[in-house]
Parts: sequence; structure tokens; C-alpha cells
Amino acid sequence: MNLNDKVALVTGGGTGIGRAVSLALADKGAAVAVNYSRSRDEAEETVRCIAEKGGRAVAIQADVSKDAEVRKMVGSVAERFGTVDLLVNNASITRHIPLGDLEAAEEVVWDELFAVNVKGMFHCARAVAPWMKRNKGGAIINLGSIAGITGVGSSLPYAVSKAAVHGLTRSLAHALAPEIRVSGVAPGAVATRWWAGREEQMERLSPNLPLRRVSTPEDIAHLICAVLEQEALTGQTITVDSGQTL
Ligand SMILES: NC(=O)c1ccc[n+]([C@@H]2O[C@H](COP(=O)([O-])OP(=O)(O)OC[C@H]3O[C@@H](n4cnc5c(N)ncnc54)[C@H](OP(=O)(O)O)[C@@H]3O)[C@@H](O)[C@H]2O)c1
Repeated sequence: MNLNDKVALVTGGGTGIGRAVSLALADKGAAVAVNYSRSRDEAEETVRCIAEKGGRAVAIQADVSKDAEVRKMVGSVAERFGTVDLLVNNASITRHIPLGDLEAAEEVVWDELFAVNVKGMFHCARAVAPWMKRNKGGAIINLGSIAGITGVGSSLPYAVSKAAVHGLTRSLAHALAPEIRVSGVAPGAVATRWWAGREEQMERLSPNLPLRRVSTPEDIAHLICAVLEQEALTGQTITVDSGQTL
């Protein structure tokens, strides 16, 4: 699929990996809706960056865990740009809880993480699907994580939520074929604000990785664009982790 002139929605598109994806899609000629829930300044700055290079973008607020807000957001994007062709389900949250501390993994943590990381991605996919079906083509990428493969991550509910994202990717790929391709990308460590306050821990990883490097947001954005372009791929989650899980 040629991404030029396509309309893309990137959730959490103003920061980290989402920002890099928004910029990469705009570089390829796509119009980009940069979603945020709290990070308005970052989303508007991303839009400014795209506009300065002659691209088309708009910042749009919605909490992906709220279905009504998601439907309204998708309606606004379609009104502004005519349709929606691409969705990058990037928005997620975590809580830092030692894996063995089961008592600290309280019900409220499970509910918050699943509402955003899993149901949020489902809400967005469901809201864009009619537009993509009408266009007889579309592609969705869900951001998973190696935490969803290994079971180890910032907290047990986070790792399980990402395993659920990998399952969601497979189920949506079945449910939305043949018009819509649904794939996943599962990064290892990526240098973003996700690691705020834990930068040293992230840097300590590098020497132990086969490729001796932590990924950049641009590495992940590059892969996401390639997967969106790849017409013969659906239902797969591709690991991009400098060999961490090798
Ligand atoms: N960095 C890593 O090492 C790493 C590794 C594996 C996977 N990932 C995945 O990569 C994705 C992006 O993370 P990142 O590293 O780029 O960190 P990040 O900059 O913190 O990105 C998270 C984004 O999610 C958005 N978000 C959170 N809750 C939301 C909600 N309810 N509604 C809408 N947007 C919401 C945030 O926007 P607001 O501030 O506006 O809420 C933010 O833009 C996540 O899915 C994460 O799980 C990251």
C-alpha cells in the first residue's frame, strides 16, 4: 500500500514512538491525526513539525478507554480529512510494580491497564473499521511489547495486557479480513519518556543485547511504516528488540 495521501490516526501520537510514527507517516505523504489524552502541547508541537514541512496534520483529544470519545474523534478525523485509512494503536499506560508483589497488583491497576491498553485499542479499531471497509482497504497496527511474550515487564498486569494485545491483533485480523489488515509490533526497550526516572536501568540493558543498542522511536516508526505498506501481511506481531528475546 502506498501511504501517500492516506489518512492516518495515531493514538498517543504526540510523544515517543507515536510522535516518530506521526512524523514518518507525514514524510510519506499521509495526513495525520495526532491523538492525545493529556499531552496536548506535545501533540500540537508534532502537528507544527509536520505543517512546517508542508504536511497535513491535526491534534485531537480523546481518552481511548472511553468508547464515546473514540467514536467522536474518528468522526472528526473523517470530517476533516474525508476518511480514515490507517490506524496506529500506540497509546498505552503502565504501573511499575515488582513482578513478585502480587498484592500490589490491585484490581484498580488491572482495570486501568486493560481499559487503555486492550479495550482502548479495540474501541479505536471498531470505530475506524466502517471507513476502511467502505474504502475496501485499510491497515491497523497494534503496539505490543516483548513483555507480552516473555511475561516480564514493568508490572504483571502490563505484561498480561500486552499479551492480550497480541491476541487482539490475531482476532481482529480474522474479524476484519479481507478488507483490513491488522498487525502488531512488539518492541523491546525503546528510548522514550516511558523510561523516565529509569534511564540508567535502560542504558544498562544495551551492553547485554546482541545488537548492543536500545531501539530509537524512529527504528520502531520505520518498521510500522513497512508493515502498513506490506499488503501480504496480517495477524502477525513482529518483534523488534535488538535481539533481546533471541
Ligand atoms: N518505550 C519502551 O521501552 C516500550 C517498549 C515496548 C512497548 N512500548 C509501547 O510503545 C507504545 C508507546 O510508548 P512510548 O515508549 O512512546 O511512551 P509514551 O511516550 O509515554 O507514549 C504513550 C502514549 O500513550 C498515550 N496515552 C496514554 N493513555 C492514553 C489514553 N487513555 N488515551 C489516549 N492516549 C493515551 C500518551 O498520551 P497522553 O500523555 O496524552 O496520555 C502517550 O502519548 C506503548 O504502547 C508502549 O506500551 C514501549
